[in-house]
Amino acid sequence: MQPDGLIFIGKEDDIKKSQRITPKIDGREIVVFYHEGKFHALDSRCYHEGGPLCFGEIEDIDGQACIVCPWHKFKITLETGEGLYKGINPQEPSPTPKWQSKGVKQRIYKITIDSGNVYVSSPDFSVSFDSDYYAEKYKQGGELAI
Ligand code: FES
Repeated sequence: MQPDGLIFIGKEDDIKKSQRITPKIDGREIVVFYHEGKFHALDSRCYHEGGPLCFGEIEDIDGQACIVCPWHKFKITLETGEGLYKGINPQEPSPTPKWQSKGVKQRIYKITIDSGNVYVSSPDFSVSFDSDYYAEKYKQGGELAI
């Protein structure tokens, strides 16, 4: 039986083996990563211009696991969906570039594991994120552009 409000996306063991899968939720592409012992689920289309995050590399940036978009290399934290950029504070005596957050840009999905099954929670569309635009755009059976 499927718990209420949860959508089954796959078996825990299978996802651990493949490390990333791209299930659809009501036609919406999402990507689920298994990285360093944790599951993460995000909209699969990058909030910038819709690049396919499922083909990106995962990098550690300032201690945070980030997916790097294959199109223009934007970095998005797997844990929170925040967009990161390197910026300087011109007020500092000798400004050096540091990683900063643009805020949460990519919709993330809560993962639940129950008896070896992995679920994501139904998205809450009362809150919107920049990635929603591309998630909708690519929803209508559009081919996955690489
Ligand atoms: Fe992802 Fe531009 S589309 S960085």
